[in-house]
Amino acid sequence: MIEWSDKHLMTTAKRYPIALVRGEGARVWDSEGKEYLDFTGGIAVTALGHSHPKVVGTMREQAATLLHVSNLFHIPQQVQLAKLLCEHSFADRVFFSNSGAEANETAIKLARKCAKERGASDRGDIISMRGGFHGRTLATVTATAQEKYHHGYEPLPGGFKYVPFNDLRAVERSIDSRTAAVLVEPIQGEGGINIPDDSYLPGLRKLCDETGVLLIFDEIQTGMGRTGKLWCYEHAGVTPDIMTLAKALANGVPIGATLATEEVAQVFTPGSHGSTFGGNPFATAVGLTVFTTLVEERLPERAERMGRLLRERLLAVRSRHPGAVKEVRGRGLLVGMDLTTPVGDAVSACRERGLLVLTAGDNTLRLAPPLIVDEAAVERAAEIIERALGAAHA
Ligand SMILES: Cc1ncc(COP(=O)(O)O)c(C=O)c1O
Repeated sequence: MIEWSDKHLMTTAKRYPIALVRGEGARVWDSEGKEYLDFTGGIAVTALGHSHPKVVGTMREQAATLLHVSNLFHIPQQVQLAKLLCEHSFADRVFFSNSGAEANETAIKLARKCAKERGASDRGDIISMRGGFHGRTLATVTATAQEKYHHGYEPLPGGFKYVPFNDLRAVERSIDSRTAAVLVEPIQGEGGINIPDDSYLPGLRKLCDETGVLLIFDEIQTGMGRTGKLWCYEHAGVTPDIMTLAKALANGVPIGATLATEEVAQVFTPGSHGSTFGGNPFATAVGLTVFTTLVEERLPERAERMGRLLRERLLAVRSRHPGAVKEVRGRGLLVGMDLTTPVGDAVSACRERGLLVLTAGDNTLRLAPPLIVDEAAVERAAEIIERALGAAHA
């Protein structure tokens, strides 16, 4: 199977040498029958865990009822999910797509159209942060201010400017009469679980208000309860003009969403933007089940509690292995551990011992388990990481 994979798939991903064939809760099994604790969560996607009975039930029922019709028609599940998202956030309106990159493309288009309609026809620049990650389409990879993702794809679209993350002065200097929006992850995920100072997001809000620039929060990784609040912006006490979601929104069924205030959203008119699959009955029915379950079962609070326990355990590991672990940081169940040894070795050592983990940034072990994870799984993951670090460090 691995030989065929090497032969027939475009080699865009460095894959781990296993194939996962089944999952339940926070556990998965590979094709050889070996069990793993899944602290990758499908890269922060499977917030309710694998094979959640409510998700499976909705999928069965909706697949057998109506899968797809297109946005030529009203779609009740889409309307209900949009209504729920608006009732639980700053937003008034939602546009649905199929991935994080598409949600950000929509945000960029919306911000540019809005800036132009507010009066300045040359207002189209997007300021984004170094080390950020916003997707792989041409516009979103350009918004992703990391040259390693750009190499070979030039010419890149124009109208993007980069500034260091967590540096308000740099944003202030960079905003000019051509700036349409500032695009930022409230915590940088792929970039290394980088948490800004408490004053950063409020500072960005203030700068945007003073200059008439829109503020876009990319909550594709941090949203849906992952950081201990439904939306990560709640920690900062400010709201954006536009927010993007994807990943956990339908627990693994592809979906993206761009949320905005009425004032911003009204610049989209029939024909301005669109998507064939976006918001179809299947994806939005699942999204509806995921969102209701997340709220009813208070999973953001659980993420906060489990995340605190996980960080406590990892800090204890750090105190016992100061030579291997530099820093432990995170919010809720988005946790990073900076290592002194190559992170790839630690990932393999964890996998061999039955724990699947992610990496981020240059040398950070990233943990994004499902939000339904329990104490026993958290304790076990920390134990495996400790043993793996001992082995990788030896
Ligand atoms: C913050 C953020 N934005 C955007 C994306 C892109 O999402 P997708 O891979 O669904 O296009 C990701 C994916 O990792 C992400 O973490």
